[in-house]
Amino acid sequence: MPQRDKRRFFRAPGRVNLIGEHTDYNQGLVLPMAVEREVRVVVLPRPDRTVVMRSANFPGEVIFNLDDIERLTDDPWGNYPKGVMKVLEEEGYRLGGAELEYDGDIPAGAGMSSSAAVEVVTALAMLSLINVSPDRVAMSLLCQRAENEFVGVNCGIMDQFISAMGAHDHALLIDCRDLAHQLVPLPLEGYRIVACNSRVKHSLVSSEYNRRREECTAGVKALAEELPSVSSLRDVDAGMLERCKDRLDATVFRRCRHVIAEIDRVRQAVCALENGNLARFGSLMNESHVSLSRDYEVSCPELDLLAASALEIEGVLGSRMTGGGFGGCTISLVREDGVESFCRILAEKYTSETGITPEFYLCRPMDGATER
Ligand code: GLA
Repeated sequence: MPQRDKRRFFRAPGRVNLIGEHTDYNQGLVLPMAVEREVRVVVLPRPDRTVVMRSANFPGEVIFNLDDIERLTDDPWGNYPKGVMKVLEEEGYRLGGAELEYDGDIPAGAGMSSSAAVEVVTALAMLSLINVSPDRVAMSLLCQRAENEFVGVNCGIMDQFISAMGAHDHALLIDCRDLAHQLVPLPLEGYRIVACNSRVKHSLVSSEYNRRREECTAGVKALAEELPSVSSLRDVDAGMLERCKDRLDATVFRRCRHVIAEIDRVRQAVCALENGNLARFGSLMNESHVSLSRDYEVSCPELDLLAASALEIEGVLGSRMTGGGFGGCTISLVREDGVESFCRILAEKYTSETGITPEFYLCRPMDGATER
């Protein structure tokens, strides 16, 4: 049989988060959906323990042995799949060597989780080659661990989870405390989710992300001194926070206020969707953006401009930054027949104020990772 007949094809999607930002690492709720843009990989098994990886988006090859997986400091993409293979081996899966060709159309740096998609597609492909059909929750956790421990990015579970578990026409409500999850139908009759890429990525992303995590931890510690049952911000409501205000540094107080209100907004957003109340859903998106910008301070002038300008356009029910922040995308809930003029008007406004041409992506909720 010619070698190429042994090739197998896998895909894993990127995501946008509809609401529930910076709540995953606080044991909160999130509501992401997987999108059409994805990472694809073609895999050809090898009889040895050598892995050869190529990417259509980067020059050169990454070659290593599964017995000796090392992180390289200046590799722009190889550490993600390497980390996954390392973690799988550590977990006791004896992988086989392979040639992997990656390709994809998730815009880099747009905050649509291209790295989580690379991780998830790699885990699915490498496990499938040894005839393991993985439990999706366990696979997401291993991918997150690869990113935390091997790549060195302290992300939460949301991005890997939705890339592995998304479903056509649905968002996924994830409870990041116990990983209970539930598909939420997205009855967007007459409306569309439109992502707008600011095409900026401020260098603060990872240092500020880690700082926010520390501020939340500091908040929990101070709150627990008065309320011993509190072990995460998930255990706190607005009244409790207000009562303990004097114990918290002013910045930490605002960070906690965002997280607590945002978790509640996710609950309300799910109700709004269940009741087909898109106007309410849109207002919650707007509140989320203001809170991320003012209380959590993870927005930036470009995202604020996009979100505020979107709301001035006819037929827009809501707009907010999505993902970690400091650049990347906003998402807006836009009346279907107004999508074209929405993109034109928003692009004109954004370009005239920043000199940058934004990009737009229509987002349809798609299935999580699959073999193709
Ligand atoms: C990044 C992280 C996620 C989550 C978001 C913010 O995308 O990877 O785990 O924390 O930021 O909601």
